Amino acid sequence: MTKTQIWSAAFLGIFVILFFLQKFAGTEYGSAPSMGAGMPQQNQANDSMASTEATGDVLVKQFNCNSCHGSDLKGTNMSPALVGLKTYYDRDKLINYLRNPNAYLEEERFKAYKDKFKNIVMPAYGNKDVKELGKIADYLLGLN
Ligand code: HEC
Repeated sequence: MTKTQIWSAAFLGIFVILFFLQKFAGTEYGSAPSMGAGMPQQNQANDSMASTEATGDVLVKQFNCNSCHGSDLKGTNMSPALVGLKTYYDRDKLINYLRNPNAYLEEERFKAYKDKFKNIVMPAYGNKDVKELGKIADYLLGLN
């Protein structure tokens, strides 16, 4: 091998190693989003971390609530409007609802929803960070 070839091979090797190191680090952060203890500066690692810093309205967009509830959250033919929720919820109840909507299906309002929005199911967000759901709850409770 010539000197140039040796140098090229060495550089290539370094890039490959860096690539895999980065990939490895990325998946490790991604698999444990709430175990932030030892690594406080991981926000840029992936978008689930970035969203920890996001406000409620941004989170609503990130979680794609708009795809069913409408771009202005005023409801669509697939799902109800998310305005005036403070008549029915306080913050904790709304967080609980988002984590487990099925627990509320016995309420009269939800029976009516079932008729109106046949075949569409409000997803459970029990796998999301409760802090993020709290921000979403705060945001929704402020909508009139
Ligand atoms: C796949 C469509 C869909 C998506 C996505 C969705 N929803 Fe829903 N949502 C519904 C439907 C349908 C209902 C009506 C209740 C039912 O049928 O279970 C509902 C009901 C609700 C209610 C109860 C409203 C009331 O009057 O009590 C809240 C609050 C709510 N959704 C918030 C959200 C938030 C916040 C998100 C995003 C994190 C979201 N939804 C994403 C379909 C959806």
